[in-house]
Amino acid sequence: MSYDPNIVGFACQWCTYAGADLAGNLRATYPPSIKLIKVPCSGRVEPEYVMEAFAKGADGVMIGGCHFGDCHYKTGNHKTSQRMTILSKMLEDMGFDSKRFRVEWISGAEGYRFAEVIEEFTKELQELGPSPLKGGNGHGR
Ligand code: FES
Repeated sequence: MSYDPNIVGFACQWCTYAGADLAGNLRATYPPSIKLIKVPCSGRVEPEYVMEAFAKGADGVMIGGCHFGDCHYKTGNHKTSQRMTILSKMLEDMGFDSKRFRVEWISGAEGYRFAEVIEEFTKELQELGPSPLKGGNGHGR
């Protein structure tokens, strides 16, 4: 089944958001499936924000941050890595495919990589089909 997934992307302003800007400047093409939300650091993204995005009908959620060693708040991305690994396991335990959720480290210089990641994630979500939380099973809003 082919459909246009919608992805919510939380992107650290210093790295991944800048990488997305660069992708645009390089005219690197990627599907228009992602809506980016600029955040000061990936470590500021609470697990509840991810859950809320899914509850509101996102087919996939991505958090993008700086590579280890590059976080402007030193350990924000380490915090992201730890918390989101736990969240991913919780999603699996609840019967939700954790492939719908990604954490990616993409720098401001990696415009082409940003485009590749979005392309790959979009294809993966197309294979998975629309989120089970969509379409009136009582969980969507
Ligand atoms: Fe980019 Fe912390 S400033 S992940």
